[in-house]
Amino acid sequence: MRVLGIETSCDETSAAVVSGTLEALSLDSLVILSQDVHRLFGGVVPEIASRQHLTGIVPAVEAALHDADVSADELDAIAVTYAPGLVGALLVGTSYAKTLAFVHDVPVVPVHHLEGHLFATLLEHGTAAPPFTALLVSGGHTLLLDVPEWGRYRLLGQTRDDAAGEAFDKVAKLLGLPYPGGRPVEQLAATAESPAHGHAHYFARPMLRRRAVVTDDDYYDCSFSGLKTAVLHAVRNAEQAGTLAQERASIARGFQDAVIDTLVEKVYRAAKAHRRGRVVLGGGVACNGALQQAMRERFAGRGGAVFAPTPRLATDNAAMIAAAGLFRAQRGEQGDASFTAVASLPIPGLFSE
Ligand code: KG4
Ligand code: ZN
Repeated sequence: MRVLGIETSCDETSAAVVSGTLEALSLDSLVILSQDVHRLFGGVVPEIASRQHLTGIVPAVEAALHDADVSADELDAIAVTYAPGLVGALLVGTSYAKTLAFVHDVPVVPVHHLEGHLFATLLEHGTAAPPFTALLVSGGHTLLLDVPEWGRYRLLGQTRDDAAGEAFDKVAKLLGLPYPGGRPVEQLAATAESPAHGHAHYFARPMLRRRAVVTDDDYYDCSFSGLKTAVLHAVRNAEQAGTLAQERASIARGFQDAVIDTLVEKVYRAAKAHRRGRVVLGGGVACNGALQQAMRERFAGRGGAVFAPTPRLATDNAAMIAAAGLFRAQRGEQGDASFTAVASLPIPGLFSE
């Protein structure tokens, strides 16, 4: 099976071709046009994003088909992100995909963006397949899932307020770092002394009581907004003391350590409760090297394998949409052309028990 994927949910115009089967996926091409213009505004401006998708979508798809050496008529399916995301941005991708599918008489498969993130790792590691525990950490979402099989997603926990990536972006702003802030915060934190040498800033871990039990309603949930406020106070205090320049790295490190401790513990609880030997990380925050390392250390020696996609596949891209689309197409699912863009929607197959 050969599938073209299209992703336009936020500020990346992306197209990709994948082929093969779920057991042996091949990434034949991937084009990502990143909209750098939003950096000027410190966040994504929806109207600008839509307009840039309009100018980028045709060349992105043409380049992806060209790189994969395939014509649109030879495709078995066209997969496109239809939710969640910025509606104006999603409409560009869905309208274009439907039209291309109609013209070339190819089935079109609507794909949920977060289901796409779950498939990203499979493109690089054939064994990153269910059953596994999944942590999706992006700019808009923080989801802890148990995945017994593709298409069935048990919701264990989520953030009660800010998403993990959003917290990184807000803390970056407080520290005078550019948007998006995840990578700059990670780089600044790496220059701080390790806590073993007693770096100055320690922030309380939200929802991480030592005696927590599985029946607690926050056993798997996270909260990052209090942490962000704690960082704000630390920055203000340092400003007043005139020591912000010396303390910035330590504040970044203290913040990152708190986020990582929380995420690692929640994932560990989930994997243990459901006896999963594999952990799959997805979303932009999964690029964070310190998070990956802490996760691997927590599972090392317990026979657990932690999979994280490389940055190109962890952040928004169409290859993961094509992979999830291939799964849906293999099951015979295809949208009649009546599906449309939706701003907010749970992953299909989500259940809690
Ligand atoms: O998945 P993604 O590309 O887009 C969304 O669907 O939101 O995630 C973007 C988020 C941003 O908040 C960005 O700051 C964060 O991922 N991010 C990181 C790192 N790289 C990107 N957060 C922490 N550490 C990183 N190295
Ligand atoms: Zn995403």
